[in-house]
Parts: sequence; structure tokens; C-alpha cells
Amino acid sequence: MGHLNNRRVLLAVCGGIAAYKSAELVRKLQDSGAEVRVIMTRGAQEFITPLTLQALSGNTVHHSLLDEEAERGMGHIELARWADLMLIAPATADCMARLAAGRADDLLTTVALATSAPMLLAPAMNQQMWKDLATQANLATLVERGMHFAGPDSGEQACGDIGPGRMLDPVAIAESAASLFKSGALAGQRVVITAGPTREPLDPVRYISNHSSGKMGYALARAAIDAGASVQLVSGPVALAVPDRVNCHSVGTAQEMLDVCMTLLEDCDIFIGCAAVADYRPLSACEQKIKKSSQEMSLQLTRNPDILASVTSHIAKPFSVGFAAETENLREHALGKLERKGLNMIVANDVSDSSIGFNSENNAALLLWREAEGNGELNVEQCSKDVLAGIIISKIAHLRRA
Ligand code: CTP
Repeated sequence: MGHLNNRRVLLAVCGGIAAYKSAELVRKLQDSGAEVRVIMTRGAQEFITPLTLQALSGNTVHHSLLDEEAERGMGHIELARWADLMLIAPATADCMARLAAGRADDLLTTVALATSAPMLLAPAMNQQMWKDLATQANLATLVERGMHFAGPDSGEQACGDIGPGRMLDPVAIAESAASLFKSGALAGQRVVITAGPTREPLDPVRYISNHSSGKMGYALARAAIDAGASVQLVSGPVALAVPDRVNCHSVGTAQEMLDVCMTLLEDCDIFIGCAAVADYRPLSACEQKIKKSSQEMSLQLTRNPDILASVTSHIAKPFSVGFAAETENLREHALGKLERKGLNMIVANDVSDSSIGFNSENNAALLLWREAEGNGELNVEQCSKDVLAGIIISKIAHLRRA
């Protein structure tokens, strides 16, 4: 698996002889882990059939701005939003000219204007057309606007000329596409993350829970996806949108969370226990609503299973990361949990500071880990939960490589 894991590549094919190489390009992009959708210009369809690219990409090929059927399925604006990368290969001289002019007279140019995704062009044309001042001026304009170019290659051309203008090899184009994304640090890794609180029912209308918002776990899910992992999020009840491309399993109680985690363990390389799991639950939940009676009332609680400890003692033990919320002796308590729960790494929070941790946008943490040469640690000053999540994921990737 390459660095295009989880990336959505919108491949736009223009009408040039190199269009026949698009079939191989679809495959190479998929081999690198990308999901591929294809747009074809009218000219492209003279060189290769939409059916070929549809069969290879596994998705309907889009070719007309005015096709009601296609617009009903995934319209041009949705396509533009869907893409993490718009790749135009082959990009003809005419395509470059129309992009430079900001035209929106067909599906390709319209989507190009409508997308905020990075754009990569793999030009292909006759060497003299490439060298022409008009094409070179268009190239300069497109580069200035932030578009990326892969190629063209130099050599013998279909028309018999020799010079620059051949479309780059599909493998090199796929590599060039991958290089536009920051990190593939967890490419191919399967990550399970628990997040949010659990709810332990007392009766049909009441429960015991905590203030966990789930923000840290969801930020970790996004960071892991960005690093190329596939992510299963096991989430207690929270008011957050499930991040793109993350598989979310919604649960209520600690027991439900444990059950789901155990089923996911067979396909898990990295487990991150970020949920604020209720340590205790009511000994028995009443079937009917509890009515008020005497002045005082006691609840009898019983211990919940420890999800992290169950994961680390499982035969398929993945690389395991836990969290520790402490109000005192942060390092000492966290190190104790690292050892006791058989973790590879622990993220310790000082929750006595109300500006960080539960429900806040920011966090600060002490990362402690075990490695061959002993324990390591990293103190992360207060930052957004997204930034902290990125640091945690990079550290995990680093430790995994080591
Ligand atoms: N955890 C878990 N299952 C539980 C309780 C906790 O998986 N039943 C996980 C949490 O997701 C977190 C870590 O264990 O990663 C926290 O450990 P824990 O010992 O529960 O720490 P605290 O909640 O801080 O509890 P205490 O300090 O009371 O031991």
C-alpha cells in the first residue's frame, strides 16, 4: 500500500493518444490505496471507452455536465467536493488553455473551478505544441495558481517527433500524486479508537455517565485517516459528526463498547483507548422507572470490565495506547497504568486544569512510551486537540517503525 491510502482521486481524462494509459493509471492509483472516480472529455472517449474506465474504477464514469442521470447520482459540485485530489491525465494543450482562461464549458473545467482540492496535471501533446509560447504561458499561469505538474516526459512521440510532450509513465504519475500528501505514516495500518463517554443505565430514563465530549478521540480518528490508516471508531454518545472515511460503531454501555472492540480486534494493528469508560455501573438496571420514596437512596455499583486491559491481554494484542486523566502525580500514576495495563504508550492529562481536557477545545499532555532502550517521554504544551492528535499519531507511527 502506498501513500494514497484513503485518498479520493478524481481522474480527468482528456482526448489525446496517451488516454489509453489512463486504464493503467487507474490501477496504479488503486494499488497505492486511492479510491478513484473518472471524468472523461468528449475527445477522450474517442481514444478509450468509458466502459473500460468504469470497469476498472468500479464507479460510473462522468462525461457530461448536462447528463441528468449522472447529476442525480453524483453531480458536478458533489464530485468537486468529493475529491482529495483532481488529477488530469493526459492534460492536453487545449485543456491547459481552457483552465488558464478559467472556462467552465464542460464537466472537466467546471469541476476544476468548483474544487478546492489540489490539482495535478500530467501534460501530453506534440513537442512543438508543448514548446509553443501560448502553452508555456498557460503553464506559467497554472503553476502560479498553485497547480502541480507531473511531466511531460521527453522522447519519441506517437506522431514520430522526438522531444518533450510524452505523458509521464503511470507509475511516476501515481508517485507524484502521492507526494502531494503530507504523510503516509500509518499507510495500511488498521486502527481502532474508542471515544466519548459510556452511559450506564439506572432505569429506562436515567444513567450514570461523565462529561467526556469525544473531541480528543474524534481528532485522533481524523489524524489517523490523514496518516493513511483505516479507522474503526467505537464511540459512546457524543454530539460530533463522524469524520469522513471513518467507520463508526455507536455504543452505549462499557459492556457494549467492550463487545464491539473484541469483534474488531482480529483486524486491528493499533488500539487507542481514548474513551472515558465508566469504571462502575449500577448492579442492576431497573426495568421500570424508579419512583421516589424515602429521603435517602443508595445505589449499588459493580465494576465494569476494563476494555484496554482486555485488549492487551488478548492473544491478538495490537500496539496499544491508553489515556490517563490525573489530578496529581501525573507521571507516576501514568507510568503505573502503562505497566499495569500492558500498554505501549500512554497519554497523560492533568485534569485539575479546567482549560484543558474534558469538553474543552484544547489539551496538553505528557506522552510516555516503552521502547527497547527503556521508557521515553514527550511533554506537549497546551495546543488544540487536532494538533495533539497529530503529534500522538506521529509518535505511534515512529514507535511502530522502530
Ligand atoms: N479504560 C478502559 N476501560 C475501563 C476504564 C478505562 O478501556 N473500564 C481505559 C480508558 O479508555 C483510558 C484508560 O483506560 O485509556 C484509563 O485508565 P483508568 O485506569 O481507568 O484511568 P482513570 O479513568 O484515570 O481511573 P483511575 O485513575 O481511577 O484508575
